[in-house]
Amino acid sequence: MRLVLIGPPGVGKGTYAQAISHQYRIPHISTGDIFREEVKRGSELGRAVKVYLERGLLVPDDIVIEVVKARLSREDCREGFILDGFPRTVQQAEALEAFAPPDLAINFTADDNVIVERLSGRRVCPRCGAIFHVKYMPPRFPGLCDKCGAPLIVRHDDKPEVITERLRVYREQFTPIIEFYEKRRRLVTVVANEQAPQVIPKVIALIEEWRRSRNPS
Ligand code: AP5
Repeated sequence: MRLVLIGPPGVGKGTYAQAISHQYRIPHISTGDIFREEVKRGSELGRAVKVYLERGLLVPDDIVIEVVKARLSREDCREGFILDGFPRTVQQAEALEAFAPPDLAINFTADDNVIVERLSGRRVCPRCGAIFHVKYMPPRFPGLCDKCGAPLIVRHDDKPEVITERLRVYREQFTPIIEFYEKRRRLVTVVANEQAPQVIPKVIALIEEWRRSRNPS
């Protein structure tokens, strides 16, 4: 099963992707996580994308497409994948059609005030990638990851001025992407204003409905 998750920064794509990945045992691939990791390592790729991430701007298509193509060619993607944060432009969507066309695109929406609150309270684990929220998904021990015990951090791009820019960039880009998958009848939309324990079962139910529609018994 090949899934694509679309939605504004902070709507919860990474959170839902982790749950879907656990349920269906397919890898969660976040282009944002890949880039942040490369920046941390100081690799050539990391140095090339750093400035875009810091400003909340999109990394150029040719770079992102190469990274995703290489990642999807790995063995663990044979049974499928969950792409979180890709595609973000029509060029990226077209490229994906050529090397690994997705079965379903899930479009998450939430009110602006909900999104800003989610981003400003987000804490992430720099070691294992687990995502927390100081109010909505607090770790058991404040400031420490439940899964691996590492100290949690605030993402660099969760500063108020970068959040505003990321939301602006998203609004500029998302309509053509939604239309791209709508035209191909592969789009479903989930309103994600509720808490994650309410949103996740809705997403799983949609996926199950889609699976049944493909294999009616
Ligand atoms: P990326 O890492 O993809 O960031 P994003 O799309 O802005 O999304 P986020 O990771 O910020 O949010 P999310 O929706 O995953 O929310 P989360 O689950 O963490 O991209 C970063 C940068 O990389 C881009 O700006 C760009 O520069 C570059 N880039 C990446 N992909 C690219 C591409 N394809 N093309 C070009 N450039 C690219 O949840 C947020 C918080 O809310 C958490 O604290 C969580 O605990 C909490 N939460 C989640 N759901 C709920 C809920 N239902 N109720 C309450 N709290 C919730």
